[in-house]
Formats: sequence, C-alpha cells, structure tokens
Amino acid sequence: MKTRKAVFLGLLFFVVCCGCVKEAKVGKPNLSPDIERRVEKLLAKMTLEEKLGQMSQMHEIYRKESLILENEIRAGRVGSFLNFFDIEKRNRFQRIAVEQSRLGIPLIFGADVIHGHRTIFPVPLAEAASWNMALAERTAKIAAREARAAGIDWTFGPMIDIARDPRWGRIVEGAGEDTYLGSLMARAKVRGFQGDDYGDSERIAACLKHFAGYGAAQAGRDYHTTDIPERVLRNVYLPPFKAGVEEGAATIMSGFNDINGVPVSGNRFLMTDILRGEWGFEGFVLSDWKSVTQLIDHGVAEDEQAAAVIAATAGVDMEMVSSSYIDHLDELVRKGKFPLSIIDEAVSRILRVKFRAGLFENPYTDVAIAPKVMLADEHLEIARQMARESMVLLKNENQLLPLKKNVKSIALIGPLANSRKDMLGTWSLGGREEDVVTMLDGLKKALPNCEINYAKGCDVLDTSKDGFNEALEAANNSDVVIMAIGESAELNGEAHCRTNLDLPGVQRELLHQIHATGKDIVVVLFTGRPLTIGWMLENVNSVLIAWHPGVQGGNAIADVLFGEYNPAGKLTVTFPRNVGQIPIFYNMKNTGRPEDPTDPYTTKYIDVPNTPLLPFGFGLSYTTFEYENLKIEKDKVSMSGSLTVSADIKNTGKYPGEEIVQLYIHDITGSVTRPVKELKGFEKISLKPGQTKTLTFTLSTDDLRFYDINMNFVAELGKFDLWIGPNSAEGLKGSFELTN
Ligand code: BGC
Repeated sequence: MKTRKAVFLGLLFFVVCCGCVKEAKVGKPNLSPDIERRVEKLLAKMTLEEKLGQMSQMHEIYRKESLILENEIRAGRVGSFLNFFDIEKRNRFQRIAVEQSRLGIPLIFGADVIHGHRTIFPVPLAEAASWNMALAERTAKIAAREARAAGIDWTFGPMIDIARDPRWGRIVEGAGEDTYLGSLMARAKVRGFQGDDYGDSERIAACLKHFAGYGAAQAGRDYHTTDIPERVLRNVYLPPFKAGVEEGAATIMSGFNDINGVPVSGNRFLMTDILRGEWGFEGFVLSDWKSVTQLIDHGVAEDEQAAAVIAATAGVDMEMVSSSYIDHLDELVRKGKFPLSIIDEAVSRILRVKFRAGLFENPYTDVAIAPKVMLADEHLEIARQMARESMVLLKNENQLLPLKKNVKSIALIGPLANSRKDMLGTWSLGGREEDVVTMLDGLKKALPNCEINYAKGCDVLDTSKDGFNEALEAANNSDVVIMAIGESAELNGEAHCRTNLDLPGVQRELLHQIHATGKDIVVVLFTGRPLTIGWMLENVNSVLIAWHPGVQGGNAIADVLFGEYNPAGKLTVTFPRNVGQIPIFYNMKNTGRPEDPTDPYTTKYIDVPNTPLLPFGFGLSYTTFEYENLKIEKDKVSMSGSLTVSADIKNTGKYPGEEIVQLYIHDITGSVTRPVKELKGFEKISLKPGQTKTLTFTLSTDDLRFYDINMNFVAELGKFDLWIGPNSAEGLKGSFELTN
C-alpha cells in the first residue's frame, strides 16, 4: 500500500487541532417576523382538535362522500389534501375551509408533480443525463406554473434519493447514483419550483423526498430495509437533502424504509437532530403515504396510538393519508401523556409554510388561467429541448447516425414506436396521452416523403410472437430499421422493481430475428433504468437511449436521428453487464486486494469482468472530442488555498457538438477508505468542428471534505489523483498534494 500519513495519530491530532468541526447550520432560516407573529397569534386561538387537523393530510379516496369531507373541513379537522386535480372542487373545499371553518385557515393542496404537470418532460433520470442544471431548473419552473394554475400549491418533489441499484423501480425518479450531481439537481429543482418566493402565483412549494436512504433498499426491492452506516449516510445519501434545505425547500417527506433498525418516519436522529438541529430546517416534514401507521408493520409500534407518538416525537409534522394523529393524540395530550409543545411546534411549521405560500391572501385558484398556461408553446419547446438533451448515444458504428434525410424507406419496429402513455413515463398524473407526439408521429412529421413501414412486432410484455412476421416484412422492405424497444412506463416507478434487467417479453427475440435480416439497425431504447443490453451493444449498429421522453418525445427523437440535434447526454447511472454485478457504481472502494489479473486472490469475479457494461458519465456524440494538455496549477496546495486545473478539449469530428467535460478526484489515502473516484465538477460546452476550448475548474478544500474517522467533516492532508475526462472511466490524469 502507498503510505501517505506515516504517523496516523499525528494526522488525527492535526484534524482535531485544525478545528475541523461538524458542519455548521446551513438552512436559510430567513424567518419573517411578520409571519412569525401571525403564526403565533393564530396558534393561540386554536383548539387541540384544530391543531391536529392541520397535521392531517387526506386523500379523497379514503372518505369518498363529499359531505363527510366537507364536514371535516368545516370542523377544522383537515389541513391538506393530496393528488386532487379538480379545480372547481378545490375551490369549493377551500371556500369551506376559509369561509365556514371557525378560524378560516386555508387548506394546502399537494400533488406529485414530478417531471411536469400537463407538459410532461422526460423522466427525472433522463433529465439528469442532460447535465444541464439551468434547463432542469426551467422544466421545474414550467411545471410549477402549470401546477399552480391547476390549483396545486405544493409538489412532492424533487425526489433526490441517491440510487445505486437499477432493480429498484424508483431509480427513474431521481438523478442517479452520484451525490455531487444529485445535490446540484436538488438545488436546481428547488429553485425551479419555488423561485425566490413560493408565494408567487406561478410557483409552488417543494418537498425533498424521501428522507432518507430510501434508495438503498436491500436487493433493490421497494420499501425494503436499509442498513447505512452513519458515515455513508452523511457522505452519500444526505448531501442532496442538505443542498435542498440550503436552497430553501419548504418541506421534506419522510420515507417508507427503516434505516439501521429505525424506520425513517419515526427517526428522531434524522428529522430532529440532523435536519433541524444541524441544518436549521424551518419548514415542515410530511410523512409518506401512511408511513406513520406503517410503524406498526415495521414492528416498532404496537398500535396506531403508539405510531402517532413515535412519529410526532421524531419530527413528522403532517401525516399523509392515515389518521393516527387526529384519532389519538388528542386523548394523550388531555391525559398529560403527550407534550402539547410538540404539537404546537409542528402546527407552527405548517402554518409558516401556508403563510409563505400566500394561501391566506390568495386561497382560490382562478379557473381562467389554466387553459392559457397548459402546454404553452414555450413549455413544449423546452420539453423538446430537454428530451433532446437527455438522450444518450451508446453506440454509432460506421456513423450510421445521423440518418440521411433523403432515406427512401424506414422500418419502424417495436412496441414503443407508437405508444402514447409510455412516452409520458411514471408519475405523470397531470399528463394526457392525447398531448403526446410518439416516435411514429415525429418521424412522419420530420420526413413527409419517406416511406415509413411501421410494425409493432409485439407488446412490451408479450409472450406471443404473432407480430414478428409483419415486422420482418417491414424490415426486409426498407432501407434501414429503427427499433423502438425497451421498458414501458409501468415497469418503472414505485413498487415496480425487477430482478431481471433484460429487455422484457419477447423483445430480445424480436431484435435477434430482425438482426438476422442483415439490415442496418438503430435501436431507440426506452427505459427508466439501466438494462442489461450487452448483446444489443455488440450486435446492432447504433443505440440511442431515449428514456421516457415526455410529450415531445417523438419530435425530439426525430431531431436526433436526423441530425437536427447532435446528442450529448451522458449516463448518470452505471449500466451493469448482468444483475449479479449489482450493486455496481463508479465511486466504489479500492479494497485491500484491488484487481490484479495475475493474482487470482484479488477482488473479482470468475465469470465477468469487474468493469460495468457502461460507466457513469458515458455518452457519445456524432462528432469526436480529444482531451489534451492537462494543467494543474501547482502540485502542492495548502489547506487554505485553492487549485485551478485545466484541459483543452477539441472537436475532432465533422459536426458541431456539445461535450460534458467531467472532473474527478481520488483521495489516495484517508483516515477511512475513500472512493476510487469522485465527481467534483463538470461543464457542458459547445464546440464547432476543429474548435478547441480550454476548460478551467477550481477546486477548493471544501470540495475535498468528507466524514473522517472521527465523523468530522474535513479535508485531509495528502496526495490526490485527478482526472479531466469524458466519463468516469477515461480521462487525462494528474495529481496534487494537499499540504499544511
Ligand atoms: C410515494 C411518494 C408520493 C406519495 C403521494 C407515495 O406512495 O412514495 O413519493 O409522493 O405516495 O402520492
């Protein structure tokens, strides 16, 4: 082993003596004295039942009859509704709350606006692949505008769970496996949804979810247990939440999972000690769907009353769907068995958000706005742009792509070529199939004079091959084949985990048979997760991932296939060779026996290589880029200093293109083991053919911090490797040393 710190104790002494303390409070407390006064005044007038009402969020499906609901609202026994999309009814319910309840406290309406409201954008994992934070902010801003017009005050997003297991269906909802990128995405989305003021009539309150560690579900099975050591929790899973809090997120959702034996919806360490104590979060915490009463199923609460006590004490302020707070806490407080102060705290936080959201001043939704705002031209344009930028080119043999626009005939084959609902992707509650441009629509529009021979071939989950002949005929009669295959939207998202990541149904066989025709094949792959596509990558000419691209998907795909746009997206999750490699992510540890091909007793498999099929950060372009002239300003940098590093990136191909240039480091020796690579910066640049740009990054000591052996957040002295490159597996390598 290379040794850097000969005297380990000396290092610890240095770390302690340098005052490398736990992170300081980061929240934007930004409390307005006026709002605080109003909260206090209102709270003083509230009965216990009204307070518990504010802590209750209802879903219509559980109290079907409107009359019962209306009585509950009138009595002040409900503070919020979720996933409620009827504006007229919203206003009616709101009127009861504001004009007929004793204190007139408005309801807050929350909904899952995850990747657009009516204008559905690509799924979040796709958006992340654009690495375009400004654009990601813009799509959230548009989502907010449409949602607010639809009577939604608050979204249950962004979902910022770091996910390293593609079996987990919810990997599609987040930004992928990397903490740095995930944190930037969390910020972009919060800014997009909330702007500077979520009381603005075109903004909505955000909700960071799912606090915390949900993405580490064992074996990639949804809702499953997580065991995450505190260091990993703080280094990997919490930073996106901390970033979202810093950005001023109004609310946070506690998740379904248990973590190290404590369900997160009853986890005081997370919700009180870290979130409020360390980070100074001033908003409120909402449970996930019945995650309070699920404390019983977890086996930490005997009954609903116990569940309510555990969750409220831990710091869950509002209960989603289940009603243990309103049903049980009243009696306990009256008997002196539960402190009223916890309830007052929770209600103050909820009222604070309602005041800030402007609900007291503007409780109703103007029904005239929605028709003007939904699917506005600008929204569709951005949807098309984001869909294009999110696509990732995995292979392009002999530059088959872009296809010539004068191609005479195309066989368009596959179950996803003309499926509207699958373009929308998971969590598109406000989306409508009629708004979607499918691939077939997009291709026809782009090439009105081309003969497009469309054949579905099979359904996504089909076991029947009855449609194969028609597909083969289309292939044989056309100049080139484009296949639209992969996962349907319903194979992704909550409760949709898979243990087999191959193409579902008989699609693989369809691909094999079409391949046997000898035609050139472009696969457009629709998916919300990494798939095991080794055979495809080896055998077809070109592969483009389109994800689930949203309402403008078909137009955007045509733009890319015919060269109107040169693809630039890069993967934000590792694609494994097979399911047995999972978990596999780029920032793993070196181990004590790093792989050595000459030594069998080093870390490896005997059946597949350690390397993934496709690494994090990977993606091609129609042009090519060369990296040269890595310059590291100095080889030693002091704790108080910063370091600039640069490289020249040249477009060596014949198309103008964009490149996402990535900066990685490796902290070679630490007081605890460190990842072999960590992303620390990136930039998306445009280059004309032949053009070179010098890209400069500045690293500061803050970028080198992590939770050390004493759980202090520090940068440690010693040597680092550094790369500037096109993905996590390639790049120009240099090194530097952090000195005293
Ligand atoms: C999901 C949340 C979602 C909530 C409300 C839950 O099942 O885990 O992400 O926000 O439902 O729809």
